[in-house]
Amino acid sequence: MGESLAAEWAELARLGATPPSPRALFAADPQRFARFSRQADGLLLDFSKTAISDQVLTALLALARAADVAGQRDAMARGDMVNATEGRAVLHLALRGGQGNAEAAADVAAVLARMQAFTAATHAEGRFTDVLNIGIGGSDLGPAMVARALWRQGCPMRAHFLSNVDGHAWAELAPRLDPARTLVLVASKTFTTQETMTNAHLVKAWLGAHAGQGMVALSTNLAATAAFGIPAERVFPFKDWVGGRYSLWSAIGLSLALALGWDRFAQLLAGAHAMDEHFLHAPLADNLPILLALVECWHVNGLGLNARAVLPYDERLARLPAHLQQLEMESLGKRVTLAGAPVQGDTGPVVFGEPGTNAQHSFMQLVHQSPCPVPVDFIFVAQPDHPYLDSHHKLLAQGLAQAAALLRGKTLAEATAETPELGPHRVFPGDRPSVSLVLPRLDAFTLGQVVALYENKVATLGALWGINAFDQWGVELGKQLASGILPELAAGAPKPGAHDSSTEGLMRALLAR
Ligand code: F6P
Repeated sequence: MGESLAAEWAELARLGATPPSPRALFAADPQRFARFSRQADGLLLDFSKTAISDQVLTALLALARAADVAGQRDAMARGDMVNATEGRAVLHLALRGGQGNAEAAADVAAVLARMQAFTAATHAEGRFTDVLNIGIGGSDLGPAMVARALWRQGCPMRAHFLSNVDGHAWAELAPRLDPARTLVLVASKTFTTQETMTNAHLVKAWLGAHAGQGMVALSTNLAATAAFGIPAERVFPFKDWVGGRYSLWSAIGLSLALALGWDRFAQLLAGAHAMDEHFLHAPLADNLPILLALVECWHVNGLGLNARAVLPYDERLARLPAHLQQLEMESLGKRVTLAGAPVQGDTGPVVFGEPGTNAQHSFMQLVHQSPCPVPVDFIFVAQPDHPYLDSHHKLLAQGLAQAAALLRGKTLAEATAETPELGPHRVFPGDRPSVSLVLPRLDAFTLGQVVALYENKVATLGALWGINAFDQWGVELGKQLASGILPELAAGAPKPGAHDSSTEGLMRALLAR
């Protein structure tokens, strides 16, 4: 939150001190849905159920212009070194057809061609029935989410994902796989991540004689892949300008090409590219990622709401909240600006979620009635991929009702009229914000659009807040401390005085059992 934007931030704070009531905004404007929703390439974004009035939207757009969101977006897209703390460009848009620079475009084309040829050869050979992706964070969540979303539409190979260093994960998976029929992808940008390398060694031992033809690496670290024993022709590389949480479009997506087929992987990239083109060229006031970012900025900085729930009303998108958690919280959970100065307000909110309707039977109680509102993203898909139309209509009815209930609420008079003795308990404050995203159908193209929508939203918020949305220094300290704790656990005793007394006590308790 740069000082030069003081006037714009002050205006947002002034408006946030006495925010409009969404209910009142609807009552005053029969056209509110039409005026506060936008469409792009078949996607519909409705942000009318928020406390965003014309005045608030004007202030948010003024902030976006003053922060030069468009200029920062264009600098990222053309390959400027916007990830300054890691000394890197941020070019994931080039992975899905954006130009970036000529070198990046040529590099992407070469790796995609190798991935396509490998996919075709693997399918033609027919030796492998299963693909196992070993990776964690961005080397797992995106591919696992997409595979979960799209497998019903036909799969040449079954996909499995191993991420946690917890041995239970491999112990559960191993009996379901045949070492002779499983192609193992070790997916790690750094090829040093403890969880991934531990699992890779376990699985290599399990493959035994099949390891030579049965293992492939997806990485930027060619020295480490060679040291692990995977020859260069079985390594699919990518560049350091691909951030982990933005990497499903790179060689990290090979599990998807194998499991879903090349055409659908290409469609995923095409959908993301379509959203990128919209992000790069649509006016700010009609730009879906920018509007989504401005809504979040209003909630966080205008209204002080520091959490957001994501509810896909589609079981196929069950892993989307987990993917967005990493994308948004690792990108936007920052306390200093790019220049290293403390940020002046809050940044990325806590993101959590579950598919509807399951979420209604777990955390939605709090969203409806706790003193602190939690904005919600509802994601709806118009056409199901199954024949059970009654179930589909019930699913949509439930989701639409949740959004309507959050807006409308129930007054004490209404609640008391229904149940006189329980009136206060049955009050819903209402005026609780949500946005709704509607997809015509869920396929590789529309899913690519949705993921790119959120990625570009994150880039926009990074630009608005003046923070680096592309580094993740906050994951380092735990890794450092774990490397000290591990040898002491293996040796069976904590080193006296090496830790705080709680950590030492917990180590002793765990070792005593
Ligand atoms: O620990 C966080 C992180 O660095 C993520 O940013 C990344 O997606 C994940 O670990 C996995 O990293 P790698 O692909 O290098 O194994």
